[in-house]
Amino acid sequence: MDVLKIKGGKPLEGKIKAAGAKNAMTKLLVASLLSDKMCTFYNVPNILDVEITVNLCREIGSQVEWNREEKILKITTKELKTSYVPQRYSGSNRIPILMIGALLGRTDEDIIVPTIGGDLIGSRPVDLHISALQKLGARIEFREMKKEGAYFAQAHQGLTGAVISLSYPSVGATENTILAAVRAKGTTLIKNAAIEPEIIDLILFLQKLGANIMVDADRTICIQQAHQFQEVEHTVLTDRNEVASYAMAAISTKGRVFIEGAEHLHMIAFLNKIRELGGGFHVKSNGIEFFYDQPLKGGLHLETDVHPGFMTDWQQPFVVLLTQAQGASVIHETVYENRFGYTHMLKEMGADIELFTQCLGGKQCRFASSNHHHSLVVKGPSLLKGHNFSIPDLRAGFAYVMAALLSPDISTISNVEFLDRGYEELVAKLTSLGADIVREPLLPLKKLSPEKCKAALHGLMKKVEIDTGAPTL
Ligand code: UD1
Repeated sequence: MDVLKIKGGKPLEGKIKAAGAKNAMTKLLVASLLSDKMCTFYNVPNILDVEITVNLCREIGSQVEWNREEKILKITTKELKTSYVPQRYSGSNRIPILMIGALLGRTDEDIIVPTIGGDLIGSRPVDLHISALQKLGARIEFREMKKEGAYFAQAHQGLTGAVISLSYPSVGATENTILAAVRAKGTTLIKNAAIEPEIIDLILFLQKLGANIMVDADRTICIQQAHQFQEVEHTVLTDRNEVASYAMAAISTKGRVFIEGAEHLHMIAFLNKIRELGGGFHVKSNGIEFFYDQPLKGGLHLETDVHPGFMTDWQQPFVVLLTQAQGASVIHETVYENRFGYTHMLKEMGADIELFTQCLGGKQCRFASSNHHHSLVVKGPSLLKGHNFSIPDLRAGFAYVMAALLSPDISTISNVEFLDRGYEELVAKLTSLGADIVREPLLPLKKLSPEKCKAALHGLMKKVEIDTGAPTL
């Protein structure tokens, strides 16, 4: 287990290259399991979530060659060795549940998926996944197993296309349904589907693989059964979360950073808010340059939403950016009911943030009658003091890195493994932009307080589990 030490107060300046998208690459690996043909991916991000997904695919029977330097990965799954997702993968990320959609049409065995995890940002149910797959003919049961439970899924009678209306355009449920529908007889319609760029990338891949898929303007996705599969070569799209993260770090530190590979098309909602705030950007032929242009103006109202809205994963670093803007701004989180947990540490640093359970401004969202803090008011500008952070989830992790970069003091950040899940070469990229940042092993456990020692051991065991397959604590 490592910690980051950051001494902030310096502008970030220079150029970086954006990595391939975590939220696309992990799904593409799962999608490759639909066929027995070789799939070659380019622009593969060298991050922990890809490593975990590669290990999971190997368990299932895939042959994988991954050249991390060249960012090329070749995967072939001639035969399935098993359709049991080992328990140790549950809790590591949101990928295992997608194994059901990918494997249902490929095996007569039960597909067994332990309960899933991911970031600690709400309950993250999978009801929409399960009911959509059942509509295609899958039989899925939840059974108690060991300490937790597992989904048992099978489609012994085969899958048949159906009309599926999602009550909310869930990214994961849309992906799971598309994967199953590729092998379902006839035609499947998904209404109110998610249409995030990463889903379109998955559709492009599946079309190359042999599927016929149409996306209508009204959020309907139409999938026809694929009768044969082909070898595929696919370049993974750029990570718009990484792009937005470095863009906000550049503007908030009063710097200037060119991000090679940043895709204008995927950043429209983000760029509109940056302009409203007074942040600078130039869209160039091979990327986007972000820079501090003038004192940042608050007074913004921002609602997170499904694509093409303002992405929920941009919300946490954006709140840090707003701590540097003059005036009060309102954020309404409409995608997750519990994605403000990270703000208490920002408040300890000196940020002026107040949380509300009501839907502030704009529309009433799904969480209007719940008791969750899902709106906030942030006032700035604030001088942030250094802090000792413990990261609760991936995007909050980057928000803390950004806050640390803004403080002239030294800050320490633990639970760095969350950042490893989604940010390639974080320390090297920030160092190249002039940040004072180092990564060091955590202090020997005997020097920690009992609470920190317990938390450190828990994190360490989780990592050992993933790396070596050692049993759960
Ligand atoms: C994906 C992304 C995540 C992003 C999110 C929304 C990956 C690995 N993660 O997560 O970075 O923040 O999309 O853009 O791609 N829901 C249900 N029932 C379900 C499924 C979802 O109620 O069966 C709810 C969730 O609790 C949440 C909302 O729908 O409130 C959005 O979830 P979803 O779009 O499914 O997100 P993920 O696919 O988990």
